[in-house]
Amino acid sequence: MRLRLLSYLLLLCYSSAIQALTLPNKHHDYTPLRRTVYQFPTQTWIESIAVRSNGDLLITLVDRPEVYLVSPTGSYEPILLHRFTGVTALLGITEVAHDEFAIVAGNWSIPTFSSTPGTYSIWTATFPSVKSRTPVLRHVVHIAPANFLNGVATLDAERGVVLVGDAGAGEVYRVDIRSGAFKVVLGDDATMGTYPVGSTHSGINGLKVLGEYVYYTNTARGLFARVKINVHTGTAVGPYETLATPGGMDDFAFAPSSLIPKSHNGGENGKEGWIAYATGHASNILIKITPDGEWESVFGGVNSTILEGDTDCAFGRGKGDEGILYVVTDGGIAHPLPGGFVQGGEVIALDVARL
Ligand SMILES: *[C@@H]1O[C@H](CO)[C@@H](O)[C@H](O)[C@H]1NC(C)=O
Ligand SMILES: *[C@@H]1O[C@H](CO)[C@@H](O)[C@H](O)[C@H]1NC(C)=O
Repeated sequence: MRLRLLSYLLLLCYSSAIQALTLPNKHHDYTPLRRTVYQFPTQTWIESIAVRSNGDLLITLVDRPEVYLVSPTGSYEPILLHRFTGVTALLGITEVAHDEFAIVAGNWSIPTFSSTPGTYSIWTATFPSVKSRTPVLRHVVHIAPANFLNGVATLDAERGVVLVGDAGAGEVYRVDIRSGAFKVVLGDDATMGTYPVGSTHSGINGLKVLGEYVYYTNTARGLFARVKINVHTGTAVGPYETLATPGGMDDFAFAPSSLIPKSHNGGENGKEGWIAYATGHASNILIKITPDGEWESVFGGVNSTILEGDTDCAFGRGKGDEGILYVVTDGGIAHPLPGGFVQGGEVIALDVARL
């Protein structure tokens, strides 16, 4: 693992490093490299984040089945949008259509660190207007055969179709949000599966559709992979390809095109125009992955509190925050630092161009 000098500096000397780095950039903005947007009390495990078109952040919790709306600028206190009943946890969240978010709910238990198969459902939270902060909740479907549903990605916003990863079975479901119809469309033990029976590790974790591919992380196997799909049915039309093996990762986000260097964009050697930022979770680092399979740790550190237990991330969609990566954490609940230090789950804003 290659850690940049910057990460070391931050590890050693967090507060003074932050001060030194909080200098106005050439656009005369005043964006800190790292900013805590909000920190929940200890024993709060934030699992996933999605961003509304108005820039507001939606986050789901695993320690209790709650979804919150968070202001990226701290202009209001986090708003509890809904507390689910009959389940213990919320997992992935994605915007399936404009201001309509699909949420995975089920019984993943922190005390036993395991999933209860057969308890997973898909819900939607829909905001009636861009300014609204009170979504309408709807139960879409109970996916009885699922073992451990975790990540969710939008496949077809027009038709309202999502892909949901089963981190226990090593499969992906296609779920029609309008009709509730579901079906396994992808499955590959090598890249989506987890370790044998009784494993508490997540196989396929974060997933995203980009172009004609589904990209995904596998936490247990420590890899980043993709498969070419039919973008209507979600079924595979190419091989399951491992692209990089950085070690355990949770969810990830693709950088907006403004952050992708031109040399990266369809340039020589058939390079493709994407950069992925993946959360390390157990390793407390942020990992940058490029299409050539190269990866590096660009922030945080294995013994650092600066990004403790990072679980998911998403780029801003508000005015002027397109280059800001909002990272959420479990505060170390799953993997405490040496000595057992655990803090409250955080929403952290990182200015990625400066990493
Ligand atoms: C799932 O969790 C809920 C809430 O704690 C509980 O009432 C329910 O019995 C659990 N379901 C199963 C199948 O364990
Ligand atoms: C992290 O802490 C552990 C336990 O104190 C130590 O063994 C390890 O060398 C540390 N790692 C780094 C990269 O500092």
